[in-house]
Amino acid sequence: MAAAIDFSIFDGNPAEARVECLIVGLFDDDELPASLRKAGAPFANRLRQLQSRGDVSARPGETQLLLDVPGIKAPRVLVVGLGARKSFDRRAWRKSVTAALGAALRTRAASAALWIERPASTALDDYYFGRAVAELAGAALYRVNDLKSGKRPPAHRLQKLVAGPVPTAGVAAARRGLAHGEAVADAMRVLRDLGNLPGNICTPRYLATRARELGSTYRSLRVRVFDESEIRRLKMGCLLAVAKGSAEPPRFISLEYRGGRAGTAPVVLVGKGVTFDTGGISLKDPAAMDEMKYDMCGAGSVLAAMQLVAALKLPLNVVGLVAAVENMPGSRATKPGDIVTSASGQTVEILNTDAEGRLILCDALDYARRFKPDVVVDMATLTGACVIALGHHFTGILGNDERLARELVEAGARADDRGWQLPLTEDYAEQLKSNFADMANVAGRDGGVITAAAFLGKFTQGLRWAHMDIAGTAWLSGAQKGGTGRPVPLLADFLIQRAGRGA
Ligand code: BES
Ligand code: MN
Ligand code: ZN
Repeated sequence: MAAAIDFSIFDGNPAEARVECLIVGLFDDDELPASLRKAGAPFANRLRQLQSRGDVSARPGETQLLLDVPGIKAPRVLVVGLGARKSFDRRAWRKSVTAALGAALRTRAASAALWIERPASTALDDYYFGRAVAELAGAALYRVNDLKSGKRPPAHRLQKLVAGPVPTAGVAAARRGLAHGEAVADAMRVLRDLGNLPGNICTPRYLATRARELGSTYRSLRVRVFDESEIRRLKMGCLLAVAKGSAEPPRFISLEYRGGRAGTAPVVLVGKGVTFDTGGISLKDPAAMDEMKYDMCGAGSVLAAMQLVAALKLPLNVVGLVAAVENMPGSRATKPGDIVTSASGQTVEILNTDAEGRLILCDALDYARRFKPDVVVDMATLTGACVIALGHHFTGILGNDERLARELVEAGARADDRGWQLPLTEDYAEQLKSNFADMANVAGRDGGVITAAAFLGKFTQGLRWAHMDIAGTAWLSGAQKGGTGRPVPLLADFLIQRAGRGA
């Protein structure tokens, strides 16, 4: 997918930038940011005057548009508040850049120069600067793929964004960051669009179609789609038990990317693709049930990540696996107490049909073994308990390999898409005891994020595996309801770092 706008790094004098809108930042003191000093005295004096009169605000994220400013080539100068200098960190910078880009798009300028003071290079180096600019621009440009029939607001006109300041020595790294950031933004858009689509459009078959499309766009991706009878042949009894209640047939999707050395063990990504989760016979409460259209965001993350590795041609072997089903009540639906056999051969007593994510994932995780993976990472909107535990700020990270879990936590921190590790010990697995089968699919309310992971852990023995519960992070509710594109930045960082290490 080609980016809609042309990004570049600018290391000249902002006063000379030939753009329609110059974006600058102001602190709440009367000292001009260092990055603006070379713009000249007339400009500095003008800004100071406006600031002391209270006509421009330095409050974080507030913006003011100035026209025909002395000493500045650009006809528009957009001033964004940066708040207090001493608390200006990476988070404050992101917030100001987001506000500024939003305001710049509303000016309908076709080109803009982003010239906001940067936090210390230890907090945001040149590579991550480039990456964050492209990612934040992608987010500012994102429009929900809505199905409203009325007239649409006019599209933005931005075609060109130059960003600075970057020291000459850092230009190459910043450019590389921009290129990576564009691919991350494109991948986030894929995930957000898939999540926002309603359940009557985004079905398991729809996900399979989108996977096949990726396969035809990127010849480096080998895509296979398994239909219901093939899934039966794979003995994925748990996945089928979930699909049974729905008229929508399930799909199991595999996408293989071999960009690394032949014979190098791949990273296998596994995604939960419940295209709508009613809870099944253990029916959910009606409140906010519509949001269960987002229950395929793990699958969307896998598709997005596969697009990203193919677009960036990362020297890495990666396999994406997607288990796609709709979870519905119906006369053929699985009932509480039903016992089924997973692909691994272990039997499961399904005490709650609303704990369906782990059932489709356990069969997908078992399938991952055939790739003799280096590591396996699954992504799933798995538990409401994760939202209770971590809220909407952190993705839950659990697993059986400390190094892998740490790698993911660190990737999330660098990418501003944070995850937090939770403990996963034998104690939790014991809570899944069943009198009638090898295990039950639920273990009561307490520690629900962890017991869900413990269930998956019974299918990943001998693998280096991590699980990411994205129930709190993949979408927002309320007035800003919509997909967030998370955990794509985290995953992208994880994969890019691994590619850099020559894994
Ligand atoms: N998809 C849900 C988890 C979910 C719920 C995510 C609300 C975000 C918001 C999952 O399939 C589910 O229903 N989990 C149950 C598990 C329980 C029955 C053990 C839950 O969290 O209530
Ligand atoms: Mn459920
Ligand atoms: Zn679910």
